[in-house]
Amino acid sequence: MPLPPPTDGAAAQLVFPSDFLWGAATSAYQIEGATKEDGRTPSIWDTFCRTPGKVLGGESGDHAADHYHRYREDVALLARLGLGAYRFSVSWPRVQPTGRGPAAQRGLDFYRRLTDELLAVGIQPVVSLYHWDLPQELEDQGGWPARDTAERFGDYAALVAEALGDRIGLWATLNEPWCAAFLGYGSGVHAPGRTDPGDALRAAHHLNLGHGLALSALRAALPATAQAAICLNLHQIRPLTDAPADLEAARRIDAVGNRIFTDPILHGRYPDDLLLDTADLVDWDTLIHPGDEQTIGAPIDLLGLNYYTPTLVSGTASDGPGAEGSRRADGHGGGEHSPWPGADQVLFHQPPGTTTQMGWAVDPSGLYELITDVSRAHPGLPLLITENGAAFEDQPTPTGEIHDPQRIAYLHGHLAAVHRAIADGAAVRGYFTWSLLDNFEWSYGYSKRFGLVHVDYPTQRRTPKASAAWYATAARRHAIDPL
Ligand code: FCB
Repeated sequence: MPLPPPTDGAAAQLVFPSDFLWGAATSAYQIEGATKEDGRTPSIWDTFCRTPGKVLGGESGDHAADHYHRYREDVALLARLGLGAYRFSVSWPRVQPTGRGPAAQRGLDFYRRLTDELLAVGIQPVVSLYHWDLPQELEDQGGWPARDTAERFGDYAALVAEALGDRIGLWATLNEPWCAAFLGYGSGVHAPGRTDPGDALRAAHHLNLGHGLALSALRAALPATAQAAICLNLHQIRPLTDAPADLEAARRIDAVGNRIFTDPILHGRYPDDLLLDTADLVDWDTLIHPGDEQTIGAPIDLLGLNYYTPTLVSGTASDGPGAEGSRRADGHGGGEHSPWPGADQVLFHQPPGTTTQMGWAVDPSGLYELITDVSRAHPGLPLLITENGAAFEDQPTPTGEIHDPQRIAYLHGHLAAVHRAIADGAAVRGYFTWSLLDNFEWSYGYSKRFGLVHVDYPTQRRTPKASAAWYATAARRHAIDPL
């Protein structure tokens, strides 16, 4: 839908399409807690958290934001904010504890209750089937580097679709398969913490295949009106200079960071340059079975984009701005191994500008460019911004309020970038801020707060931050002030 013309009263406002979805996102392991209840078995993240040295402070998602018990309160919060949509993920080990075979009804019942609660207050549920919590039993049988895991994921998708298909209209297969493959099996800073570049590439292919198999299971089980998507953290890559070595670095990172997913998913074919760059790490000919690329390339209805910060690269050391560079930037903590197979010579640089608590540069122009680049490459493909947000050191005042002007500025800048992209013709259908609640930020434990709503973990008290009120106003007006 094109942008509505500004009305007199709102002449200065940036007005979004009337059917634009204003949402917030979370994921199961990061908020639910209750990791041992109702038949749930350990996921790779439960195991990883128990491995000394992997997660800051030895923390885990055991209690997290206790959303499993407090979901009613959390849906009421969403309703008070007036948001139109809520993106959450289903925990695989909660609904299919061994990763194969029959469903655990008590696990499914939780998601039935959650979606009923959302629908009752008019909030559209958007579900991700996989946000990184693989059942540990499947990891013990080979994990994502094993082809069987993709098949298991297809079966699990069918089981969830059958249980929840009557009440959820928008489905995402995977969240950020790049992180699952390359941080999980390459750099090892995410679960399961393996560090083999060949396994990381095998994992990437099987995540793609799992997406394709899940997509076909969703199509078979869901009504024709249901929509299916995948959420990718496409890297908005910038070469440090236009010297050939820097352009080559950008090409390599684009291949193993972006096109390894977008080419098979949107065009049914892996890019030749990726296969060449990584030929000594994996035997693609035996990895990709006949028909795999066709399965992976079945049409999706929407592409979800998760964006936080751009990626600045060079091919060689340079004396320029952001000069030193490092070999292992991955956006989710360091590590001794590279998450970029086939790109060993590439250096990563800190982009200019202010940073969030994660050390990530704040750059809304990266989101604008990402959206317009994807739109140009895939004309007409509807897009959703499925994650965007920022962590800052939020400190409650003595009277308990949380003033977070930096988060408001971050959201404002990035929403303005989305608006500009829509004005330039991009088909962006909605925006989900990460995150509704402060939560377990993977290897950083509870040290990073991304929420619109502050969580005091010892008491589990929720306090909406100033940014929550700001975002609620934007959602209610379908508009933001110009920058
Ligand atoms: C994304 C993840 C999400 C959260 C944000 C900060 O990569 O999908 O779970 O960790 O980063």
